[in-house]
Amino acid sequence: MEVGIARAVTRATESRPATWRPAGGGHTGAPKWLVELEDGRRVFVKGEASTEERTVYGEVSGPFLARVHGVEGDVLVLEDLSGATWPPPYPGDVRPLFAALEEVGETTPPAELPPLRGPRFWELVRADPAPFLNLGLVGDEWLERSLDALAAAESGAVLAGEALVHGDVWAGNVCFAPRGAVLVDWADARRGNPAFDVALAAISARIAGATLPPLDLDLAPWVALLSGHWAVVAPQPLPASIRADSRLREAQRADLAHALRWAAELLDLPPPG
Ligand SMILES: Nc1ncnc2c1ncn2[C@@H]1O[C@H](COP(=O)(O)OP(=O)(O)OP(=O)(O)O)[C@@H](O)[C@H]1O
Ligand SMILES: [Mg+2]
Repeated sequence: MEVGIARAVTRATESRPATWRPAGGGHTGAPKWLVELEDGRRVFVKGEASTEERTVYGEVSGPFLARVHGVEGDVLVLEDLSGATWPPPYPGDVRPLFAALEEVGETTPPAELPPLRGPRFWELVRADPAPFLNLGLVGDEWLERSLDALAAAESGAVLAGEALVHGDVWAGNVCFAPRGAVLVDWADARRGNPAFDVALAAISARIAGATLPPLDLDLAPWVALLSGHWAVVAPQPLPASIRADSRLREAQRADLAHALRWAAELLDLPPPG
């Protein structure tokens, strides 16, 4: 473990790391450790944390967050949640995830978090359809027939709002603890419409085969938005912040295939592919 990280752990916990092992998962190369302290406690440590993630752990608390031992520069020293249940698979009852997101959505966000915003993704596909079509998930004709409906549905997904938004809810960033679902990895946290997180959770759980509870949300605009997002990003080269051995783009292509089928069902379009 890097000296700077070990010092941060000591400042945050007033104990020293005794043993540590790298924590798995995640698409970025940010250092992550599960640490046993000399006093016997265990903590999870993440370095190179983004400004947004430091802001959330510095200013927000709630059962839906890991408890914070300390934020030392860009090092987060957090509750060790490795004893919780981490999907996949999601547990048979995914209601705790949606209950946690309801609490997130009732939380006043730190003012310095950036607003949630994005382009109109299906308009980007309209302007340059080749990268999406080259993924081989749909043909020209399906896109021609479906584009107006997808773009119109997407325009109903309003991102602006005044709630705390996690922004990256998926199986790798959620665990189920005795106190309820806990969200980790707040690197993409924003101020915005809490429906965005509910939609991300719904599609993630559905992709993993979980049964969704009844949701008080019209998902059609959101499934259009998320499918458009993946249609734009899945063909792109990986950014430098993502580990070169990451399967991120393969995962996004699979998510896109699922989202397109779901969008087609919700919008009465012919099945893609
Ligand atoms: N508090 C925690 N306790 C135990 N394990 C954790 C904890 N937080 C995260 N993990 C594990 O580490 C993995 C990676 O953590 P995280 O999602 O924060 O990093 P990442 O995806 O690389 O994120 P980032 O994009 O912010 O660099 C998680 O998928 C989970 O398996
Ligand atoms: Mg993550």
